Amino acid sequence: MTTETLDIKITKAAQSRLAQTDFSQLVFGHTFTDHMLVADYADGEWKNFEIVPYGEIGLSPAISSLHYGQAFFEGLKAYKHQDGQVSVFRPDKNAARFNKSAQRLCMPELPEEMFIQSIAALVDVERNWIPTAENHALYIRPFMFATDPFLGVVPSKTYKFMILTCPVGPYFTKPLRVKFETKFTRAAEGGFGYAKAAGNYAGAMLPTRRAVEEGFDQMIWTDAKEHLYAEEMGAANVMFFIDGTLVTPSTRDTILDGVTRDTVIAMAKDWGIPVEERRISIAEIVEGAKNGKLTDAFGAGTAATIAPVGSLNYEGEEYPLSDPATREFSNRVFNTLNDIRYGRTEDTHDWNYMV
Ligand code: PLP
Ligand code: COI
Repeated sequence: MTTETLDIKITKAAQSRLAQTDFSQLVFGHTFTDHMLVADYADGEWKNFEIVPYGEIGLSPAISSLHYGQAFFEGLKAYKHQDGQVSVFRPDKNAARFNKSAQRLCMPELPEEMFIQSIAALVDVERNWIPTAENHALYIRPFMFATDPFLGVVPSKTYKFMILTCPVGPYFTKPLRVKFETKFTRAAEGGFGYAKAAGNYAGAMLPTRRAVEEGFDQMIWTDAKEHLYAEEMGAANVMFFIDGTLVTPSTRDTILDGVTRDTVIAMAKDWGIPVEERRISIAEIVEGAKNGKLTDAFGAGTAATIAPVGSLNYEGEEYPLSDPATREFSNRVFNTLNDIRYGRTEDTHDWNYMV
């Protein structure tokens, strides 16, 4: 990274909403901090980086992101340590993925340095908004969208980059009842499942609603061709512990390459636990649930953190798993991750970016 400092103009909100915010009643993504960051792309360059009071923005109704979906986002978190220091977890990984999404959607890249400095500047302004309670954090939502006000189906020449921040608690509060989704598809080969494109989430809404109506909390997406292999779990990666080995679907163009997934894999390797990144069939998972070799199953994601699967369902057949409280691997991962993020244990991989 270069050390050139990004010029960011800061206009402070006249009044903070912090004192009126009840941190014990946070609903994910409903409470925004006092400020947001905005920048523009035009004439082939990024400019006008500004931190301004959080609020509405004026846009043409013809902007191409609204019509053709040239829009994508990232998600990461800032944590407050016991001594008051603030860190952002692995923003370099999100910066890299941000640009992978940009490339796939024919949108301009944002240099990693600009991405990270923008986040650091906003988090610095909002440090008082970072919750201190366990499993709480400041969720950071960087996003980019096309702003050319024309209806032709061509890549826009102008874009906005913005960052919102929200104090958040746990996304899931109980073990999840999960079904293997074998009708709908999240992403097909050659598509853009590996990008954090807004459209991927729109396409997931109907299947998710159907699953919830059937009494499930989440679904495990399966491959588009045969619906025989596990891909991801809702908006998280999925990980299994089978016969003493951490097994997770290998990333490919249908799967988002999760930062949490990568972190869990690194931790397992540190602990000398065998890791397999490969295709995993539903049959293998169901067999493991039946014979007791599947000792752990969880979703891994920034919002989801480590979200235990309580029970699996495949084509109407229910497979209850062990009590999540007794699971050695995911509890160790969950606790160690928290210890690193809240600065309670040594950060041997340099995952915490100090603000
Ligand atoms: N898969 C999908 C579809 C997601 O939306 C997310 C969340 O960001 C993940 C996986 C997990 O990625 P990460 O750990 O980087 O948050
Ligand atoms: C995240 O974990 O950052 C996500 O993107 C999940 C989100 C869609 C709630």
